Amino acid sequence: MILNMLKSMLSNFDMDPVVKLPAQKLAIIQHKPLEAPDLSKIRSLASPGENLDMAQFDGQRYVQPWKKTRKGIEFLDVFKLLIVSLGAKAPSKKEVSSMLSCKMNWQLIKSPPDSGGTQVTWMGHACFLIQIDNIKILTDPVWSKRCSPSKFLGPKRFCQAPCRIEELPPIDVVVISHNHYDHLDEYTIKKLGNAPIYVVPLGNGKTLRSMCVNAGRIVELDWWQECSITPKVSLVCLPAKHWSKRGLLDNNKALWSSWGILGSSVKVYFSGDSGYCSAFKSIGEKLGPFDLALIGIGAYSPDSLREFHMSPEDSVMVHLDVKSKKSIAMHWGTWKLSLEHVFDPPRELKRQLKMRMLDPDSFISIRCGETQQVLGAIQDQEEEEVLLESNT
Ligand SMILES: [Fe+2]
Repeated sequence: MILNMLKSMLSNFDMDPVVKLPAQKLAIIQHKPLEAPDLSKIRSLASPGENLDMAQFDGQRYVQPWKKTRKGIEFLDVFKLLIVSLGAKAPSKKEVSSMLSCKMNWQLIKSPPDSGGTQVTWMGHACFLIQIDNIKILTDPVWSKRCSPSKFLGPKRFCQAPCRIEELPPIDVVVISHNHYDHLDEYTIKKLGNAPIYVVPLGNGKTLRSMCVNAGRIVELDWWQECSITPKVSLVCLPAKHWSKRGLLDNNKALWSSWGILGSSVKVYFSGDSGYCSAFKSIGEKLGPFDLALIGIGAYSPDSLREFHMSPEDSVMVHLDVKSKKSIAMHWGTWKLSLEHVFDPPRELKRQLKMRMLDPDSFISIRCGETQQVLGAIQDQEEEEVLLESNT
């Protein structure tokens, strides 16, 4: 066992920083990028006098409105997490292919549902390809092997991205939840270039510009601000209980968030990274119900990590709070970032749903590379009408 652990740790010191990629494909160059949105039309969803959760900016850093609910991480746990980040206890390739990954269904991706629905494909961790109202959105895309400032050290992806970045259809919008390395990746951003519009929480534009994204392609929003991306799709920056850090001294200098993606008949919620907090009820009341929610279920052990991440127990509460009709699990099964077993989060999710007597199909975990389609309220209604007609 010790030998296996050593082997696994050593394999994480390889010198191959990123997947070897061919030159950019023509599809990306030929795609007509979306026009940059009209920033003067950004609006706040907060009505005058409404007491919504807001992060305060003290001139240097963002401060979130919630008190800490857990004690800080203990030294022994820091040591254990360091060992884990070196590759200990990551699943084998065999386990990954039998339990976690699958081939992408390119046929589905080429023919997404029309405006009556949405289609999402999990690319691992917090990255989804969302096809909605004829545009393609990527959330928190990371194609690097490691989520780390170093190309040679740090957590290494045990479940590979299901396709090369060049194989993706042209991306219209990239949504970023925050600047941690498992959510914002320089290699990926440089590959995507200036074709997409980048929609980010306040203060993250600077990091994107340092990655060669033109200022005109970046939209920065505060919590509860909404920006229309196309006549049919708008994005709403929403609260999350998390934090930010990318360099040595930049703690909380950029904001973090979750997101609402509002289409013509489908509403999608993307939780980003967050601990459980009161914001989810406000989000549900303000924007719910959501047809689909993408909710983090992993990186919750030791318990101190639940200050900023969700356990499946927390995730199920979020699913209910935001009034999600269907939820898909994320933030698990890609990098070993915490002490729970890699396959515990989906198992625990099933247990929590059963304990609360909730439909097991209402909150599912899917394979990396798998596509799910969700119908919107309008299409649901049309189907019901067809059913009624056929029954009369
Ligand atoms: Fe994070």
